[in-house]
Amino acid sequence: MTSDQVTEILKKAYGDELETVMNYLTNSIVLDGVRAEEIKESLQTDIQEELAHAEMLGQRLKQLDERPPASADFEVRQHSLQPPEDSTDVLSVIDGVLDAEEDAIETYKSLIAAADEANDPVTEDLAVTILSDEEAHRTEFRGYRKEYKQD
Ligand SMILES: [Fe+2]
Ligand SMILES: [Fe+2]
Repeated sequence: MTSDQVTEILKKAYGDELETVMNYLTNSIVLDGVRAEEIKESLQTDIQEELAHAEMLGQRLKQLDERPPASADFEVRQHSLQPPEDSTDVLSVIDGVLDAEEDAIETYKSLIAAADEANDPVTEDLAVTILSDEEAHRTEFRGYRKEYKQD
């Protein structure tokens, strides 16, 4: 494995984080109802964390003499996280968030492996830090899912 792979995954992860920010923000605005309040608040908190992830990834790319991608390179991936037709369909948003977090977890695991092979401990450390945030997000939304499934 080469460091090309590291920068490629860093760039993908950067775009994914920004797509996550956009979709969490839209869903946090679109959802309606008393039951949605906790999810909306949780999304608002996570938006700040995902944005911080994008910043860290972008700074790491710069340190590696690369540039983070901008909107012209943007590729849509999060189809299940589009806001639901029914603005009270909180479960659809919870499932979309879980897909996004699972996807992020896979991305950071592959970044850890690529950075390890490229002997790049700084990127590896960054990926471990972000991975632990994504696993915490997944745990939080798994909890919401259990609660919603019971009704
Ligand atoms: Fe993130
Ligand atoms: Fe996350």
